[in-house]
Amino acid sequence: MTSSSLLASLQASGSLYLPLNDFGPAMAGMVIGGLGIIHVFLAQFAIGGGMLLCYFEWLAQTGRSHHARRFLNGYFQLLVLISFVLGALTGVGMWLTSIQVSPRTIGLMVDEFHWIWAIEWTFFTLEVVAGYTFYRTGKYLSDKLRLRLLILYSLASFGSLFWINGILSWQLTPGAWLDSGSVWGGFFNPSFWPSLLFRTVVSTTLGALMACVVINIMGELSQEQRQHLLHRVAHFLAPMAIMPIIGLWYLAVIPADSRSWLLGGSIAMTLFLGLAVASSALIGGYAAFGLWRRRFDINGPTAALLVALALGATAGGEFVREGARKPFTVRNTLYSNAIAPAEVASLRVNGSVTDDPYPIRERERFANKQLVLGARVYRRQCSVCHTINGANGVLHLAGSWTPNQIRLNLAKLQHTKAFMPPFAGNADELEALVQLILWERNEAPSQWPLSPRSDDKKLMTQLQRWLDEAGIAPGSTVYQRLVGQEIESDTNAEAN
Ligand code: HEC
Repeated sequence: MTSSSLLASLQASGSLYLPLNDFGPAMAGMVIGGLGIIHVFLAQFAIGGGMLLCYFEWLAQTGRSHHARRFLNGYFQLLVLISFVLGALTGVGMWLTSIQVSPRTIGLMVDEFHWIWAIEWTFFTLEVVAGYTFYRTGKYLSDKLRLRLLILYSLASFGSLFWINGILSWQLTPGAWLDSGSVWGGFFNPSFWPSLLFRTVVSTTLGALMACVVINIMGELSQEQRQHLLHRVAHFLAPMAIMPIIGLWYLAVIPADSRSWLLGGSIAMTLFLGLAVASSALIGGYAAFGLWRRRFDINGPTAALLVALALGATAGGEFVREGARKPFTVRNTLYSNAIAPAEVASLRVNGSVTDDPYPIRERERFANKQLVLGARVYRRQCSVCHTINGANGVLHLAGSWTPNQIRLNLAKLQHTKAFMPPFAGNADELEALVQLILWERNEAPSQWPLSPRSDDKKLMTQLQRWLDEAGIAPGSTVYQRLVGQEIESDTNAEAN
């Protein structure tokens, strides 16, 4: 099914208005991002940990290391178990939050990729069964069976990464899917391979760092045995050497406007990217130095610190990957607020919340009906990325603006900041949203006049003109060039 026919069917089924939850001081997008970071960290550790278990089992069976078994049967397998159980739980948590934050986006993803997801779950089931069987029965099994079980666990956990990676990378670079609607075209999209390779290297790194912590808390090892095991583990850090190349490859395949956010266009993202790169470089540098001197040693606290650094790098990396998609959740198909680009034109005329059936929370708090309308518009179009007063709060951002400045900047939202979608409502909705911001800024008094006042004939005409000038294409210069439109100089339009 192509994206446009899918949207048509969404519209026809009347499912355009899906209920959105409000998460208080955190913006909705942050809730899913935060959970995602924990999930990714645990799941990737479970993959790297599994590979490390295979390696150590092999070392033990081939007589290359006499202590490897000890390590295997100790905390480490427990840790892998915990991480894949928690990984699974947070995975379910991701579903529960994503249907509250962006039901339409996740709906589109399920529509397009249900079979891929089914395959992923098959692998995941295999992972759980193999991992748990090893944990419960490993010590009674023959060497051959043990190794087979571990290899099965590793392949299955890597398999689940392989399948989910196609779906996630498709969101930023849908590739051939955009034209053909082909599932495989979307799955093997331009960022599929760099992203898969990158995550694989992150997995082995996490596995190795956690192993360093475990080796240090295994009290029964002599200094020499400890060193021996650590040196083996360090091999799993070596793939980090190719991280910079994969990182550059990834940067090269993502859309130009996304790249520009990362490389200075959005300072928050640039800083997070910088932190992720710096943390990774510190970990890699530490490993390289140890391996080069052929004496990789690392004590417990240092290892724990490196794990924390890796968590920071994961957080930074995921933040950047999610952020780089803005203003889309699925590039060129759905904006972050789940409005499709093709719908903006009609929403500009008919309004974006005209048929919104869902009640507004604390309805009695609002001083008049216009403010309730504003709250609906805000919920539909802004709440995924903003809060009123908390994280990325509009009052913080527009707190010092004059009323007309707010009007202009919201009317031309995609030009105000190109990582926002165009405003997708009519002039009445725009004014209601502006009133909401002004009212909240004045500490939400119980009396508030309607706007515009009856003697003000010009305001709505002005708003409409600003909306028309803004157009409906996304704001980045990349898009402006695509639609053959320069950002016009509007000297005479704004003079009045
Ligand atoms: C895709 C996510 C997203 C959506 C949807 C979104 N915004 Fe934003 N908005 C942002 C980000 C990110 C910033 C930048 C914050 C910063 O610079 O610190 C921003 C900035 C702003 C600013 C300050 C602009 C400036 O130049 O300083 C205002 C005002 C604003 N948004 C209002 C809104 C309103 C109102 C809506 C809904 C109609 C909305 N935004 C929809 C992500 C979004």
